[in-house]
Amino acid sequence: MQVHRDAVRDVGGTLTLNDGTAIPAVGLGTFGFTGDRGVGIVSGALVRGYRLLDTAVGYDTEREVGRAIRESEVPREDIVVTTKIRRRDHGYEAARRSVRESLYRLGVERIDLHLIHWPNPRLGRYVDTWRALVAARADGEIRSIGVSNFNADHLERIIDATGEVPAVNQIELHPHYPQEQARALHRRLGILTQGWSPLGLGRRALLAAAPVVAAAQRHGASPAQVVLRWHRQIGSVPIPRSSDAARQRENLALDHLQLSDQELEAIATLAGPGRRLWGGDPEVVEK
Ligand SMILES: NC(=O)c1ccc[n+]([C@@H]2O[C@H](COP(=O)([O-])OP(=O)(O)OC[C@H]3O[C@@H](n4cnc5c(N)ncnc54)[C@H](OP(=O)(O)O)[C@@H]3O)[C@@H](O)[C@H]2O)c1
Repeated sequence: MQVHRDAVRDVGGTLTLNDGTAIPAVGLGTFGFTGDRGVGIVSGALVRGYRLLDTAVGYDTEREVGRAIRESEVPREDIVVTTKIRRRDHGYEAARRSVRESLYRLGVERIDLHLIHWPNPRLGRYVDTWRALVAARADGEIRSIGVSNFNADHLERIIDATGEVPAVNQIELHPHYPQEQARALHRRLGILTQGWSPLGLGRRALLAAAPVVAAAQRHGASPAQVVLRWHRQIGSVPIPRSSDAARQRENLALDHLQLSDQELEAIATLAGPGRRLWGGDPEVVEK
């Protein structure tokens, strides 16, 4: 495996996007964190040091994330909140409306990072949706714009149409599905890769895999820390989800850990074709 160490500038747990803004090296996924319980989980994560929060219209967790931000003692400008546009809001006008609705639900004046959640190629409106994000950024509603689950063709189309390169592409990424080609393309284009389901949904298939457990034992770390450190060492930003205080802390405490080239190579043997978690193929998924 080719190990890439300088895809992005990694200074003290912060990375720099192609628009010059900073983003934390690890975030918190919020899928399923709804209601008062969800607010409590996100509030706790802010206390424990999380500064990147990943929500989406489709998760129905924007209100919870917004409330946790407002009730927190962490200065608003220290928090990067990400949300995403879903299928039914594709198209220029609908996407502009979706951004405003997200601003309202989050209760913030500006969204730090706004993504197109899936390209929905059969719907065929992702270029206009991208134009809407470019315009919303120009109007000050959004700081950074990006995409999620975009493959090479989708990226090429939006860049050709607008000249605007996404700051981020958030894709399925874990040692079973390391997306070497996509990451190489992102490096060439100056796009930061974010990894969704970075812990492989916390399943044993990944966290009990021999190379992961061996590295964890060698370093006195947990298997999840080894996997998250792998993400950082390949230049990607993982957004692990945990509802548990101890695991949230564990997932953020990665600075003491440095995987060797041999350990990275052993972890690379876990990759295999078709090892997506649930078949989230951007050419096929419509949501
Ligand atoms: N853009 C997209 O299309 C897309 C798609 C999927 C997900 N996402 C985003 O990515 C985020 C993360 O992905 P995900 O939620 O699918 O899965 P994930 O983060 O890979 O795994 C979450 C699971 O791992 C467990 N876990 C967390 N930390 C652990 C640790 N240290 N040790 C053992 N188990 C641990 C959690 O359980 P506990 O809660 O009990 O700790 C939870 O069941 C989502 O929440 C969402 O924000 C984006």
